[in-house]
Amino acid sequence: MGEATREAAEAAIDVLLQERREFPPSAEFASGAVASDPGVYERADADLDGFWLEQTREFLTWATPPAQGLDWDPPHCTWFADGALNVSANCLDRHVEAGRGDKVAYHFVSEPEDEDDRAITYADLLADVCRFANALRGLGIGKGDVVGLYMGMVPELAVAMLACARIGAPHVVVFGGFSAEALGERLESTGASLLVTQDEAWRKGGRVPLKVTADAAIELAPTVEHMVVLRRTGADVPMQDGRDVDWAAFVDGQADTCPAEPMEAEHMLFALHTSGTTAKPKAVVHTSGGYLTYVAVTHRWIFDIKDDDVYWCAADIGWVTGHSYIVYGPLANCTTGVLYEGDPMYPAPDRHWDIIERYGVTQYYTAPTLIRAFIKAGPEHPAGHDLSSLRLLGSVGEPINPEAWVWYWKYIGGERCPIVDTWWQTETGGIMISSLPGLVTAKPGSATRPFPGIRAAVFDERGNPVAPGSGGYLTITRPWPGMFRTLYQDDERYVSNYFSRYGHSTYFPGDGARQDAEGDFWLLGRVDDVMNVSGHRLSTIELESTLVEHPAVAEAAATAAPDPLTGQTPLCFVLLRAGREPSDELAAELREWIGEKIGKIARPKAVIIVDDLPKTRSGKIMRRLLKDVAEGHELGDTTTLRDPAVVEDLKRQTDAVLRPKDPPAGV
Ligand code: PRX
Repeated sequence: MGEATREAAEAAIDVLLQERREFPPSAEFASGAVASDPGVYERADADLDGFWLEQTREFLTWATPPAQGLDWDPPHCTWFADGALNVSANCLDRHVEAGRGDKVAYHFVSEPEDEDDRAITYADLLADVCRFANALRGLGIGKGDVVGLYMGMVPELAVAMLACARIGAPHVVVFGGFSAEALGERLESTGASLLVTQDEAWRKGGRVPLKVTADAAIELAPTVEHMVVLRRTGADVPMQDGRDVDWAAFVDGQADTCPAEPMEAEHMLFALHTSGTTAKPKAVVHTSGGYLTYVAVTHRWIFDIKDDDVYWCAADIGWVTGHSYIVYGPLANCTTGVLYEGDPMYPAPDRHWDIIERYGVTQYYTAPTLIRAFIKAGPEHPAGHDLSSLRLLGSVGEPINPEAWVWYWKYIGGERCPIVDTWWQTETGGIMISSLPGLVTAKPGSATRPFPGIRAAVFDERGNPVAPGSGGYLTITRPWPGMFRTLYQDDERYVSNYFSRYGHSTYFPGDGARQDAEGDFWLLGRVDDVMNVSGHRLSTIELESTLVEHPAVAEAAATAAPDPLTGQTPLCFVLLRAGREPSDELAAELREWIGEKIGKIARPKAVIIVDDLPKTRSGKIMRRLLKDVAEGHELGDTTTLRDPAVVEDLKRQTDAVLRPKDPPAGV
């Protein structure tokens, strides 16, 4: 952070929105909840080691049970370091051995309707994993060898991950929407020797050419010696003799059993790059014992997982949400899940509601950006389906605007399902701040309380706790088992990026937050999303939430434009709901709306009505580009954008409003 920004960041973040609605769990939900003992918070806080040792023994099966809990040499830690276990055996073998082999692990739903839908049992998954693991061994891959995975949302991706875990080969999954350059960089920097991919992936009825992209990527990653190619669409793709092999041929003749070697608890399970809003991706390293313990416990308690549930996390396995809450957490808990291959709006905006109805989904976990897209599409889509099987909803990825929260509650949850707003990151491995749904009263827009054993605090620039109600910097002041251990081959950056601001004992996630008088946490977005208007610090999320409350607005993005008088002034972009027409009058009305709702200080210089917002492939608004647009700079790197054309349009409109070439007559 530069000196000027540092100066500006010193005061607390002004909090202007006050959301007062509260949603306590119903008596019925609370009495049947998996996590129902309010004493768990105090117990975990008082005896961190005892708490986590007890959980890991209850949730996992260790080949050598650990006697050790946390070993903390700030900023490095280990958990359960004297224990050994195999992650894939914990996700598969022990369930099959307990007679649960026929339980469905995944209901796979293919994007082309009804084409390849199938139920995959725990026994099926174990056999597939063993065959793939044996084939990997046949290629000479073993403990410590990095394997790259570049696939769509197909069950084989989970198979490949678990096969890697079985033999101790760390995986590096790269989201299937990434470019050749992004993939190549991720493979090269982690030294992957094998890449598993597929011919093509289905997306929005079209085909994503994964193999062709992978071919271009490995030009940049000379360590990759082999490629395994799953046939998904059956397209004719180039195969290089001696280097590339079909998935089917690769596993052909392999035994469906394979010994699951115990790994030490701290053995690296995977590295995963943080999603691309920063320039150079960081490869976050997660372990076997601590990570699996953390995702299993958080999954069961936060999503209130019971044996007959059908749980659906609608994220992509290519992101951490999919790693932790589609693959490792749910499988460790022997959960039945839905794995949907395709786009939520394909072939129509009710695809998710159709799947929920068809499979009787009980828990549904998605991101605010998608909820806003559903709002835009209209409540008639969920209304056309029976969603009564749902009993819990989740949100992740960004702060959820209170209006979106309430829409989700009403139209998806039928005013019946608790909503867990789960704050966490790639680095944290699992959910850090979220309600336990049977114990904690939800407040729209608040992630509520740190998970048992997690200590979070809001600090000012100097590391002093800020008063309740004031904004500041979120910090985590004690380690947890799911914590990342380092950045792959870049420990220096691990220390400087995350553990320098407040000393080596305090993790700095880079988010702003406030705590209310009851101790609940309200996330305010990344700290560089904070602007300074006449010495008042405004969080972009508050402006966005206010705009989304307006009946014409589906989605909003706020940034700061330079202003000679006030330093910065908000500039907002909005997407209208279906049926609303853009007009100068409406733009002016929206500007006044913010002035009225938050105060004149927040009234934006302009509200610009746009057709789309510049988003990363994971659906996050790329704020760095909004800033470039607002400041009239050349656009920075746009390669991680879903649609680079969008930002050009924004720039054109913004320049016309902020920097008109022909000043109006009379000026
Ligand atoms: O800014 C926070 C936001 O997403 C960031 C982490 O992004 P990533 O590593 O890609 O992981 C996303 C899925 C866990 C955080 O620093 N974020 C995530 N969840 C929330 C959130 N912001 C507010 N509320 C949340 N529930």
